[in-house]
Amino acid sequence: MIKRPRRLRNREVLRKMIRETRIDKAALMYPIFVQEGNQIEEEIASMKGQYRYSIDKLMYELQRVSDAGISSVMLFGIPSSKDEYASAAYADNGIIQKALREAKKEFPNLYYVTDVCLCEYTSHGHCGILRDHYVDNDTTLELLAKTALSHVEAGADMVAPSDMMDGRVLAIRNRLDSKGYVETPIMSYAVKYASAFYGPFREAAGSAPAFGDRKSYQMDFHNKKEARKEALLDVEEGSDIIMVKPALSYLDIIHEIANTVDTPIAAYSVSGEYSMVKAAAQMGYIDEAAIVGEMAVSTFRAGANVYITYFAKELAQYINEGRIG
Ligand code: PBG
Repeated sequence: MIKRPRRLRNREVLRKMIRETRIDKAALMYPIFVQEGNQIEEEIASMKGQYRYSIDKLMYELQRVSDAGISSVMLFGIPSSKDEYASAAYADNGIIQKALREAKKEFPNLYYVTDVCLCEYTSHGHCGILRDHYVDNDTTLELLAKTALSHVEAGADMVAPSDMMDGRVLAIRNRLDSKGYVETPIMSYAVKYASAFYGPFREAAGSAPAFGDRKSYQMDFHNKKEARKEALLDVEEGSDIIMVKPALSYLDIIHEIANTVDTPIAAYSVSGEYSMVKAAAQMGYIDEAAIVGEMAVSTFRAGANVYITYFAKELAQYINEGRIG
């Protein structure tokens, strides 16, 4: 035998030398839930190890994030009141707006991304304004643009629309530009499938739709060409980073989209992915750290540049310890 692939596997120093994929803490983004109130640090039942924080407690979490070497967070808001028009989403004293002002003051070096959507703020839990029980695309755009602008005015460094309305990237870009925020990037959830993997998040954020589902706006997971269509449209509308979501069952899509567009690609390892790993690890069925590392590396290997994960702090620790990377 002349060719022996095992020659390159016989020592760790060599295996590490020739790795094709490396992961870096700088590419990790950590999602956090913020809610109204004081002294609240409430564990999310469906997501062990993840919490809903009131703004005062959020500051301690941001300290831990920063100590772990994570440079960016994505904020999700849980308002105290909801209505048909999601008014709390774009209120100047809304939960995200207040949290941003406080966080930017305390931790100015962190990079703040906000999820822009209405589902946490509507009484019916849908991601837009209803007309005859159907989410009306074009009237929703105005409210999304208003929400994005109010986040940026409160200090958001980047906005991430996750609603899946048609034309929302352009609507947000135009609104931000008209107020002079031409340098604020948009990371669009361009390729977002209607997925059962979001189940634990909806419990965390109290955002499950009161009736029906999200299939009239989020994508059908049987489709791949449609992912190209959505990604290309968002690029045309000015999206700076294209996100694919979920990650684990969608590595083929991440790969496809990384080869389709010329923007960076973000992949979101969603709540259901987190909860499955946590539950199985708790039962002793899997090695949590090993699984988390393998999931992360496979996502980068598929073509992601940014990895949004509830395991960001743990991953940073595994990278520091040289267990993964
Ligand atoms: C808001 C939004 C959702 C998630 C991110 N932004 C919920 C949904 O679309 O139902 C899911 C994130 C996760 O599951 O971790 N629309």
